[in-house]
Amino acid sequence: MSKPHRIAVIPGDGIGTEVVPEGVRVLEAAAKRFNIALDFTDFDFASCDYYLEHGQMMPDDWFDTLMQFDCIFFGAVGWPEKVPDHVSLWGSLIKFRRDFDQYINLRPVRLLPGIKSPLADRKPGDIDFYVVRENTEGEYSSLGGRMYGGTEREFVTQQTVMSRIGVDRVLKYAYELAQSRPRKKLTSATKSNGISITMPYWDERVKEMAVKYPDVATDQFHIDILSANFVLHPGWFDVVVASNLFGDILSDLGPACTGTIGVAPSASINPEGKFPSLFEPVHGSAPDIAGRGIANPIGQIWSGALMLEHLGHKEAGAAILTAIETVLAAGDKSVLTGDVGGNGTTGTLGRAIAELVAGG
Ligand code: NAI
Ligand code: MG
Repeated sequence: MSKPHRIAVIPGDGIGTEVVPEGVRVLEAAAKRFNIALDFTDFDFASCDYYLEHGQMMPDDWFDTLMQFDCIFFGAVGWPEKVPDHVSLWGSLIKFRRDFDQYINLRPVRLLPGIKSPLADRKPGDIDFYVVRENTEGEYSSLGGRMYGGTEREFVTQQTVMSRIGVDRVLKYAYELAQSRPRKKLTSATKSNGISITMPYWDERVKEMAVKYPDVATDQFHIDILSANFVLHPGWFDVVVASNLFGDILSDLGPACTGTIGVAPSASINPEGKFPSLFEPVHGSAPDIAGRGIANPIGQIWSGALMLEHLGHKEAGAAILTAIETVLAAGDKSVLTGDVGGNGTTGTLGRAIAELVAGG
């Protein structure tokens, strides 16, 4: 057996506490079948209940505590009636992203069986790509300011920052991902016709990086038509790489084209493993359905598959995705949750997927 991977498990708030145990159940089944050593440790911080008790979202030593882990398996944070969202989010997730230099945000966009795409006439297999978003610089900088406030001359500025290190490392990750996939295609999101300094720079770095990956086909679109093509021609894409702002938009638009929010996973990755990477569903804590055991656990379970792939266990990750697809395709209403047309529970769906993963 391999050296154990240390996983910090943080359920957070609301349905996070309901879907995380199902995610762990499936990970344990995969670990057993593929002979992977996973060592889980649970934490109650990064939740609004922790905040109400301690006056802060996390203990002072959160950084040193979590640094001992390879990955964070995260549920969701936020309960606006108890704690304002900017306090809960900035006191936890945003700190992880920044302090752990999780410069890749990765989201798969894949149409699963049994899930109706809002796009007409699309079937499983038609849509299958990744959005790779730069997660640490770009348009989301704190450089800028306000002058002559409250007067007629009032103005504000905010500057985009693109560093060679920052751009190159996200491009390298995206090219390597494209190289590992059968289609070997990379699409770059740009806007160099309108944003005349930073975006031509981005394009320049893409051109230079492309030379190192001659087996990967590269194309690029301006962000406006690229967004349209996500809807009109989602089959064109394999790996799409984008700056922080463009990636933020594309990584919501892509998964939205493939159906319910309950199934979408995401990863915030520090590829070198210098810091822990974080795996979480796209959805939040869903206070409207929390406590009823009806949340769809697939977004959490699929995030676990991304985590295994990140840890180098591609086959195990793929087995989880196959199990998810098999259960969805079978369409047993007593197993599936309400958001995908069933009348089952978080537990019935989680257990069905875990059993398939275990059985092989
Ligand atoms: P949300 O994603 O929690 O819920 C949006 C809608 O989708 C709700 O109607 C909910 O019932 C439904 N939904 C979400 N996940 C589902 C699942 N697994 N199965 C079935 N239905 C599901 O977004 P909302 O309501 O805007 O935010 C609620 C709280 O979550 C807020 O405090 C927000 O800040 C936080 N949030 C946290 C995120 C995170 O931890 N990364 C991401 C998004 C929101
Ligand atoms: Mg977003």
